[in-house]
Amino acid sequence: MVSRYIINGRKKLSGEVEVQGSKNSSLPILAATLLTKGENVLFNCPRLSDIEAAFGILRYLGCEAKLQNGAALVNCGNLRKYDIPDAFMREMRGSIVFLGALLSRCGKALLTFPGGCELGPRPIDLHLKALRAMGATITERYGIIECSAADGLIGAPIALSFPSVGATENIILAAALAKGTTTITNAAREPEVSDLCDYLNSCGADIHGAGEGTIVINGVSSLSAVSHTIIPDRIVAATLMSAAAVTGSEIYLEGISKTHLGAVISVFDEAGCESVCREGCMRFKAPERLRAVSLIRTMPYPGFPTDAQAPVMSASAVSEGSTVFVENIFENRFKHVGELCRLGAEINVEGKVAVVKGVDRLYGARIEAQDLRGAAGLLVAALAAEGESELSGINYLERGYESFEQTLASLGADVVKI
Ligand code: UD1
Repeated sequence: MVSRYIINGRKKLSGEVEVQGSKNSSLPILAATLLTKGENVLFNCPRLSDIEAAFGILRYLGCEAKLQNGAALVNCGNLRKYDIPDAFMREMRGSIVFLGALLSRCGKALLTFPGGCELGPRPIDLHLKALRAMGATITERYGIIECSAADGLIGAPIALSFPSVGATENIILAAALAKGTTTITNAAREPEVSDLCDYLNSCGADIHGAGEGTIVINGVSSLSAVSHTIIPDRIVAATLMSAAAVTGSEIYLEGISKTHLGAVISVFDEAGCESVCREGCMRFKAPERLRAVSLIRTMPYPGFPTDAQAPVMSASAVSEGSTVFVENIFENRFKHVGELCRLGAEINVEGKVAVVKGVDRLYGARIEAQDLRGAAGLLVAALAAEGESELSGINYLERGYESFEQTLASLGADVVKI
């Protein structure tokens, strides 16, 4: 039976919530556990369908992986396989980070192309080019990628033409146990990349420069399992800020990192919101009506995150004035716009540009999500809409947001899952 959310909008939110651990940090760190022997404990690992998918891969490979009291327990001592079946690869595009880890641990990896996804084509040319430069032999045939590095991977200088998050993570995973030094220039600077490096360094890796444009990885001979706490999810925090912004509310977010939210805070500041951060907690207060922010461009970190574009667009839909969004990261990331217009939003899209003309009010309607962050954006818009909305496609939302209807309901929103 397919689940839906029924949302009665225009309820003020108040109170405090704890922000979940980051999905996009947890996935590469779960892949990284393949490089270790012994039991890893990953605190703050969220309960999500994407995390279950990663556990599915680990268990298929022969590892033990489970979630217990908010911590992932993973032991890869008995790894038996080096292939990932197509069904797993299709389930979650992020599964491509297992490539670098498998190649490093087993000297070979056999998996299928993650293929296109709801955001349009998502090539992996940068990942493969880098692994080849490190000595891997890779054949790509009939959608199958076969990689081997019989004599082990060798550190190399890698200059990325774009700071791809996934490619940077795959290179780090491959380089951590390689012979010699790998230097990545134009590396992704996202906090999730830094979290992966922090985890690996506590396992015994020798990685410098995470969070900067150049990352240097000196290969080491072995890594041990450790306990590590996953960073808070900055996109879930940005979604909660958007929810408070559209309802003119004041909420407290616990367990956030102000630095990770810099570009999002700056947009909400411009819209007239107040955010006061202290010791991992944020008080966020929105005015009755938001001011439009004239231009929002998605950029690699520390720029405005593409994953926050949809929720923030819903806030712009009810702001006073117009906002231009320029989506610079993914080709097909405006799928939520048609559904937002069903709620009464006025938005025109031309290629990678969306022009949002703020309206006085949105009205409840039946809407359907087609991707993870689009689902979050539609939910935020429904919170602002007068009357009842029915949101379907929440299986997308559940890939990245843990029991989100309960989180919102605890703040006073009228959202129920049926
Ligand atoms: C990760 C995040 C995703 C986020 C994105 C950008 C995970 C599981 N997902 O995705 O939520 O939206 O970062 O912050 O962490 N590209 C190439 N060739 C490649 C690799 C990427 O052309 O080999 C292009 C992509 O098509 C895209 C852009 O680079 O246009 C960014 O992709 P990338 O940074 O790799 O994003 P992901 O790691 O897939």
